[in-house]
Amino acid sequence: MTLDDARSLDRDDPFAEAARLFDLPDGMIYLDGNSLGPPPKPARQALDHAISEEWGQDLIASWNSADWMGLPLRTGARIARLIGAPENSVIACDSVSVNLFKLAAGLVMQGRKGVAVERGDFPTDGYIMEGLSALSGTPFTYIEPGAGVAGLPDGVEVLVRSAVHYKTAAIVDIAAEERQADRLGKAIIWDLSHAAGVIDLKLERDGAKYAAGCGYKYLNGGPGAPAFIYCRPDMAEGFSQPLSGWMGHVTPFAFQDGYKPAGGVSRFAAGTPSVLAMTALYGALSVFDGVDMGVAEAKARALGDTFLEAVSPLGLATISAPSAQRGGHVSLVHEDGYAIVQALIAEGVIGDFRAPDIMRFGFAPLYLTHEQVFRAGQRLLEIVRSGLYRDPRFAERRAVT
Ligand SMILES: Cc1ncc(COP(=O)(O)O)c(C=O)c1O
Repeated sequence: MTLDDARSLDRDDPFAEAARLFDLPDGMIYLDGNSLGPPPKPARQALDHAISEEWGQDLIASWNSADWMGLPLRTGARIARLIGAPENSVIACDSVSVNLFKLAAGLVMQGRKGVAVERGDFPTDGYIMEGLSALSGTPFTYIEPGAGVAGLPDGVEVLVRSAVHYKTAAIVDIAAEERQADRLGKAIIWDLSHAAGVIDLKLERDGAKYAAGCGYKYLNGGPGAPAFIYCRPDMAEGFSQPLSGWMGHVTPFAFQDGYKPAGGVSRFAAGTPSVLAMTALYGALSVFDGVDMGVAEAKARALGDTFLEAVSPLGLATISAPSAQRGGHVSLVHEDGYAIVQALIAEGVIGDFRAPDIMRFGFAPLYLTHEQVFRAGQRLLEIVRSGLYRDPRFAERRAVT
């Protein structure tokens, strides 16, 4: 592949307009939108407005006048479109870790026994289920990677599983897994953190019942942005979750003793929403207006293919799923992966490192071009071939990799 080939792939970029809505430093090639999305201009504008006008001028009246109270559901409705869910089935709240707890604990409260996570899935999923097990007495177990619901041992009825794996980017066939779960009488909670905003999810069509996902990756909501919960409407009615705070009460401002859950997915709220953070997320989501997620997914995959093609002369091992089953990122293996990623960052190509030896590069489709991705691949080639990464300054480990 040549630079001209890459440029020709950019010719009919369906997201050229959307790309203008992002603020990225000049010269930087940002391949980490799967970890922290860059700030979209509408997020900044929404935040400026919320600080100067809503908080600054109207102050507490804004709970009504700016509909701060409705923000978690309004934000959820924007996310719902991106994940193929009914408008009223998603609420923005808390973090993925907390939301997975609410969903799994709710299922255990319904009498479901045993929770499981695949070995090697994102660590917080397992950690949270361990905690739930310690609290509730329900058994927790790890199952083999890729085993899915069919791999749940007898007596374990709830599986928490990533729809796109954070290292391999392998996409799970949600519809097939849900059919199997229904046959076996098991429940799946999907972790959509690496899927929402890049994969053409069809939760309703595919029979998904429960999911949580991240606001700060492909949704570009900002560092630590609120996460979200999806619960199929027929499952939400009657669902009890244990973080039964006042914001999930049917009438929070009646200040009554005794918890009565709000209708539908609103019951997954616990405490006061983080209004500024959610405002940024809400504004950021507007860059997806009019975006066809099928086209977005195809472009993300094509960008990943361009990158792999560009670095192919290095012959590096990859743990990435094959192109057709791969989400928005690719992972290359190198024993000096940490130093190589640091050397790339020093040259304005931003990827990340996942222990022990994974270099991870994300291909957010709205603001990246094939030309940028090809150039990033070439920088990687040069850094590895020249041995530049062996400079001791690139070996110094930071807390966040
Ligand atoms: C797959 C997956 N799940 C969960 C999380 C953690 O989410 P939170 O920090 O919102 O709890 C991450 C963060 O990177 C992730 O990649």
